[in-house]
Amino acid sequence: MEQLEKSPLRQVIMDRIAERGGRITFEEYMHACLYEPGLGYYTSPGRKVGAEGDFYTSINVHRVFGRVIAREICRMWENMGSPERFELVECGAAAGVLANDILDTISELAPDLYSGVTYRLVEMEPSLRDAQRETLASHLPKLAWSEPAELEAGSLTFTGCYLSNELVDSFPTHLVEMTPQGLREAFVAVSEAGFAEQLDNPSTPELQAYLERITVRLPVGQRAEINLNAPRWVNSVAKALTQGFVLTIDYGYLAPELYGSMRPNGTLLCYYRHTTVEDPYIRPGLQDITTHVDFSTLIRAGEEVGLHKVWYGEQYRFLMAAGLMEEMMALEAQATTEEEKLKNRLALKKLILTEGGMGDTFKVLIQAKGVAAPSLLCQREWGKLL
Ligand SMILES: C[S@@+](CC[C@H](N)C(=O)[O-])C[C@H]1O[C@@H](n2cnc3c(N)ncnc32)[C@H](O)[C@@H]1O
Repeated sequence: MEQLEKSPLRQVIMDRIAERGGRITFEEYMHACLYEPGLGYYTSPGRKVGAEGDFYTSINVHRVFGRVIAREICRMWENMGSPERFELVECGAAAGVLANDILDTISELAPDLYSGVTYRLVEMEPSLRDAQRETLASHLPKLAWSEPAELEAGSLTFTGCYLSNELVDSFPTHLVEMTPQGLREAFVAVSEAGFAEQLDNPSTPELQAYLERITVRLPVGQRAEINLNAPRWVNSVAKALTQGFVLTIDYGYLAPELYGSMRPNGTLLCYYRHTTVEDPYIRPGLQDITTHVDFSTLIRAGEEVGLHKVWYGEQYRFLMAAGLMEEMMALEAQATTEEEKLKNRLALKKLILTEGGMGDTFKVLIQAKGVAAPSLLCQREWGKLL
C-alpha cells in the first residue's frame, strides 16, 4: 500500500475512472501508466533502461548488437541500388545508444551510405532528446527528429529502413478472458484497496475480430492480451515508408504459440528495479508494464498494406547470419587482455543464449516494400557464413 501512495498518477487515474462512469478499459489504464504526459512510466524523467533503470535491453549488452544491425542495413541499402539518400527511422530510440552504434559502424563500413544518411529519432518522451544529442555528439549533422504523432498522422514519408527494438511490447493492450458465456474484457475500476478488475462484454468488436483473423480460439478460463495498437502501427509505418525495409526486434511469438493453452494467464509482466512483478495495479507510472508481441499479426497486417515478409526468426539466428562471427573475430583481435576477451565473449553469449535467453525469446522480423527479391545477410546459409 505504501507503494500506491507514492504514485502521483494513481489519483489522476482514479479521477478519470470516476469521470468515465466508474471504469476504464485495461488498455486505457495501461496507456495512462506508461504514457500519461509528465507522469507515465515512459513520459516522466529518469532512465528506464540499463543499470540505473528497471531492465536491460540487447542494446546495453554490447555494441556488437547495433554493429550487426548496421551490417544488415548496409546490405538493405545495396539491395535498393545504393541510393544517394537513405533514411533510417528509429522508433522508441530512448537515449540513442543503438543509433550511435549503427552510425559508428556505417561510417566505418560504408562511407558512401554514411554521406547520404539521415537518422531520424522518434521517441514518446521528448526530454530524451538531450540525452540523444549527447550520446550521438559525433553524428549530429546526420540527425533528425519527429514526433510519434507525425508518423501516426501520415505526414512523414521516407525511403530507407524503419527500425525498432522493444517498441511494440510497450504498446498498451486490451486484456481479455474466455468465459463459458464467451469472450469478456477486463475493465479497471476503483476499490477500497486501490484498483479492481471487472470482466464484462468487450468494449469493441475489434477484439473478437482480432482473434478471428489469426484463427485463435481461446479455451474457457484463458486470459490473453490483444494489442490493437500493433496493426495500427504497421499501417502507419507502411504509409510512411515509400520504399525500403522495416526491421522489428522484440520478444514474442507467432499467434498459435502466443495464444496457446500453455499460457493460461497471458504474458503481461511488470518490471521494477530489475525484478519482475505480476501485479500491474501497484506503482502506476513507476513500473514498466509489457506484453509479448504477436508476430503473426505484424506479418498479416503488413501483407495487407504492401509490407512483405522477408525474414522472421530468433534473434540468435539473425545475429549469427548477419555478422556476429565477423564481429566476434574482430573483437578478439582488438582485445588487449584476456579479461577483455572474456567480457566480450560473455556479452555476446548473452545476446544469443537460447532456451529462455535473449537469443530465442527475442524475434526479428524484416519486411520490405517495393524491393524486388531482397537478398539479406540474415538469409545466408550458415554453412557459407565465413
Ligand atoms: C522498452 S523501451 C525500449 C528502448 C530502446 N529501444 C531499447 O531497446 O533500449 C520502449 C521505448 O519506446 C518508446 N515508445 C513507446 N511508444 C512509442 C511510440 N509510439 N513512438 C515512439 N516511441 C515510443 C518509449 O518511450 C520507450 O523509450
